[in-house]
Parts: sequence; structure tokens; C-alpha cells
Amino acid sequence: MAKLNPFKNKDVILIKDFTRDDLFYLFQKADKIERMPERDRICLLNGKILGYLFFEPSTRTRLSFEAAMLWLGGRTLGFAEPKVSSVEKGESLADTIRTVENYVDVIVMRHSKDGAASFAAEIASKPLINGGSGTEEHPTQAMLDLYTIIKEKGSIDNLKIGLLGDLKYGRTVYSLLYGLSKFNVEVKLISHPILRVRREIFFDLEKKVKISEHDNLEEILPDLDVLYVTRIQKERFPDLSEYERVKSSYNVNLKILQKAKDDLIILHPFPRIDEISPEVDSSPHAKYFKQMLNGRILRSALLASILDVPF
Ligand code: NCD
Repeated sequence: MAKLNPFKNKDVILIKDFTRDDLFYLFQKADKIERMPERDRICLLNGKILGYLFFEPSTRTRLSFEAAMLWLGGRTLGFAEPKVSSVEKGESLADTIRTVENYVDVIVMRHSKDGAASFAAEIASKPLINGGSGTEEHPTQAMLDLYTIIKEKGSIDNLKIGLLGDLKYGRTVYSLLYGLSKFNVEVKLISHPILRVRREIFFDLEKKVKISEHDNLEEILPDLDVLYVTRIQKERFPDLSEYERVKSSYNVNLKILQKAKDDLIILHPFPRIDEISPEVDSSPHAKYFKQMLNGRILRSALLASILDVPF
């Protein structure tokens, strides 16, 4: 018997709300969609509309959600910055949601405030996907990160995974950490001391997954199977002089990578600033461009599952 669709009509707010089985359901659907002949795939979301509400800048999340919808024959409408909407005139988030839900079947929203996605989901009568909420979570990024690890490594269990960069403010880090905590992995957190994972979350994660903290990348690198690099989140620092102190604290380059395992893979949610040198892009370690492509595939599977079309 086919497994029940755990994403049917569901909001996607936090990765914590999904089990390991739910994630595998999604990964199988993503594989299936990727292999589907174009004539079948392009009919899947025919007549369906995705609404996108982006209160913060985005390139990959918004475009890959749009691309996913178009890839399955659906359509999209929305705004990529609040300035062009009535938000600029003072309209509330609640009224914006109550408006858009009349025109669409599913909503993806990005917002600078923690909690904004769950607030919007409580108001919306249509499924709402969190496309990044403050420093809190970015669940679909973690889904595509985990999907990429499985595709590249065959499985997630038994891997040693390093997370490098801004572990304090990076929301993709929190979603990925909670996602990884559903697997049997060893997590090494590598950052400047002032950019460590927020304490309450670290203590919670410690109970769920083998996790340790480091500041020397070169020491840890030879052990790793996966290195997940993140940018320092300048816009989230309450004090810019602190940012100046820690910016450029790490740089992944070909010289450092001589210490890595041959089959180490490097992921990054992007945008990148200077934490990975462009010379790394053509090395076999670099999987971040494939990761972007996987973003469209995974998000296609997610949209088709939420909208519960049979496939
Ligand atoms: C990330 C985000 O917005 O949280 N980008 C993304 O969605 N791929 C990472 C970042 O901004 O650094």
C-alpha cells in the first residue's frame, strides 16, 4: 500500500515538525519527479497557483520555488520586496495574508522576524511554507541540503558533518542541525567564539545528536565527509563593529583542502561572500551548484505533495 502523504495540506514552518520518515517520503518523491517524462511532469500542478511574499531579499529560495511551480505546469504571483505592496502603506501582515490567500493555493513567505511564519500560518487558510524567518529556521533549505547529502553520499547516517561560519545568526544552520539530529551523525561546529550556536539550542541539540564545538578548521577538516559553509550574516548583527571583528574569519581555499578527504563534499546555501574562494568551484569537492539545482527538484516534490496531486 502506498504510504500516506504526510505533507498533504500541511504548513512547513519548522523542520522539527517532520519525522525522518516524512523526509524520506519527500526525497523519494523528488527522485520520482526528476525521472518523470516532461509530458507528465508539466501537467502535475496545472491550474495551481503559488503566492510568494518576500519581505527580505532572496535569489535562490524565491526563484527555485517559482521554477519548481513552472516546472510542474503551475503559475506564481507575489512580491519580491514589500516596497511594491501595500505593506509600504502600513498594511498589516495579517491583512496581507488574508488578501493573498484568496488568489492562490499555497503560499511561501520570507520575513525578517522570528515567529513570523508561524503567525502567518495561523492566519492563512491555505498551506504556508516558511521561506526563512529571521534567525529562526529555513526548513526547505535544510530539506534540500539533506537531499543533496543523500544524493552525493548515498546516505546521511554515519557521516561526520562540519558546519562552518555564522552559527549564531544563520537560520539555515538551525534547520539543518535539527534535520541532522534525526540521523546517526557526528556534527562538528566550527566558528569564531562569538558566532557559536545559540546556547539554549546547543543544549537541546546535545541531547539529540553527537555534537562538538571548534574554532580551528584545519584541525577538523581531515575528519569530515561533509563541510557546510555559511556566510557571516552582516544584517543580523546588533552591533556592526562586532561584524567587522569576525568577518572574513574563515576562507575555504584549495590549499586548505589539501588536508581534506578526497571525497569530502562542500555545501553552501549561498549567497557566498568570501568564505569559499572561487578557485574551489571547479574542484570535485564543490557541490553547491548541484545543491541549487536540487532546490528546484526538492521544492517541486514539496509543492506537489502539499497540494496532494497523485504521482
Ligand atoms: C540563506 C537565507 O536566506 O537564510 N539563503 C538561502 O535561502 N539560500 C542564507 C543566507 O542568507 O546566508
